[in-house]
Amino acid sequence: PAEAEFMNEPVSDFSRVPVRQAMAAALDHRRALLGQRLDVMKLALHPPTGPDLSSFNPSRPGELVSVVSSYQPPDVASLVKAAERHADAWKERSVADRVAVMRKAASLMRAQRWELAALEVYEEGKPWREADADIAEAIDFLEYYARDMARLDPPPHLGRYPGELNELYWTARGLTAVIAPWNFPLAIPTGMVAAALVAGNPVLFKPSERASAIGYQLVRILLDAGVPKGLLQYVPGGPDLGRELVISAAVRTIAFTGSKDVGLSIIEAASTLQPGQHVVKRVIAEMGGKNAIIVDETADLDEAVTGVVQSFTSYAGQKCSACSRVIVSDMVHDAFLDRLSDAVMSLRIGTADDPATQVGPVIDSRAKRRILDYIEIGRREGRVVVDRSTEGPGYTVGPVVIADIEPNHRLAQEEIFGPVLAVMRAASFEQALHLANGTAYALTGGLYSRSPRHIARAREAFDVGNLYINRAITGALVGRQPFGGHRLSGVGAKAGGDDYVKQFLVARVVSEQT
Ligand code: NAD
Ligand code: ALA
Repeated sequence: PAEAEFMNEPVSDFSRVPVRQAMAAALDHRRALLGQRLDVMKLALHPPTGPDLSSFNPSRPGELVSVVSSYQPPDVASLVKAAERHADAWKERSVADRVAVMRKAASLMRAQRWELAALEVYEEGKPWREADADIAEAIDFLEYYARDMARLDPPPHLGRYPGELNELYWTARGLTAVIAPWNFPLAIPTGMVAAALVAGNPVLFKPSERASAIGYQLVRILLDAGVPKGLLQYVPGGPDLGRELVISAAVRTIAFTGSKDVGLSIIEAASTLQPGQHVVKRVIAEMGGKNAIIVDETADLDEAVTGVVQSFTSYAGQKCSACSRVIVSDMVHDAFLDRLSDAVMSLRIGTADDPATQVGPVIDSRAKRRILDYIEIGRREGRVVVDRSTEGPGYTVGPVVIADIEPNHRLAQEEIFGPVLAVMRAASFEQALHLANGTAYALTGGLYSRSPRHIARAREAFDVGNLYINRAITGALVGRQPFGGHRLSGVGAKAGGDDYVKQFLVARVVSEQT
């Protein structure tokens, strides 16, 4: 029978009392566990030898969330050996079996969604709705990649030719290193890990050093669902460990999501042949953005203000997809800026555990310092029209809007990863497009317009991986908006799209004369 259509996991409706109560109870429960040491040996075969990694609550920096022992570079050889011991048995299990394990993991995540979301509130400072959406997206990745792998089995016949049978076999590429960021701390690693596993590969998963606790939960769930211990390993650690995984001769695929500079360094390191290495490593690198929304003179300004504010302030601008430039037609520039300023002034800044918070903290003191440095650069380059940077608890940097930014300014070119919006003017729609395309990145972009001509032109000439018309530019949904950029925003197939799982497979063609 035909499989039912893929449906995205619904996000929670916190306006409903039972839903709100469930999340509040999970937050209370998680609060009681704060400061907990995570037992790596519950998930691992080889004990970690590195120093402790601690995570703190970005809303209340004195509050310890969890402590975990980390791995260090010399551990990699033992981790690799353990993974390789399990590789053949997993690869030889039927596709249907591996698919069933991913589906089981999805159902375990569904059952624990409040607990997982509550942990993100404390560990990553994600406000309720953002944390909840991250869990929903993680479930989507498990379900979607499971379906995708199921579609590749059994091998298809390639055409019909008398006397000849041609078949395409997909087989696992081999050991995969997953190196993940902290900003979608469950969804992004789940996507990369699930695709690698369902394709039949062993996985060494290094979460971000700023997201060790939620990374632990991901591996626990996958092992509970039936992934063999050792085949998937939780490998907490920092950049040094990441570097060692990349250069390991045994690693065949590297699935990385993170910043441009780290992504480029991984691509470079992975291209150097190591003693004993027998394959060209494949690097899937999803990297940063400097995303723009164009607001033309025909736009519904109320809609545009709402979409721009949401796109640059949700999760305090810490999304690769976030808007960091708005390019406004001269004809509506001043009216738009006035309304935008009012809207930004009305946002509620607070701790992530408060359900009313619209702008929560940034991840840590290093991120806060970096964003504040960019705001100082912006003061010199442009004209600050809203400055709420000093408001809020913990590591919060409130939203800031800086007008009169020119294309050569640093605020127009560099990823800030915080709630800082650069406003640029355009004398024509063509100039707006030229400005929008005028960075090295090509991840997301947006257009607010009621002009069919402008919309059509943006479709063909706005050079980004994900273009959104008359809506916010964050929150791509698995299957509906396969996500990923090009130019210096990354290389590889789109996450949550049909080509993604194939990157973890080798295609073999067998022709038989019959
Ligand atoms: P980051 O590049 O600092 O770190 C990402 C991961 O790489 C971490 O696990 C880190 O420990 C590891 N790492 C650091 N240096 C390494 C090295 N030399 N070799 C191997 N591993 C190394 O990024 P981050 O701060 O965790 O995340 C934010 C960045 O990620 C932003 O630039 C954002 O745009 C990007 N991002 C992109 C996407 C996308 O889909 N395109 C999604 C989310 C985040
Ligand atoms: N997939 C995430 C978004 O679209 C990055 O916001």
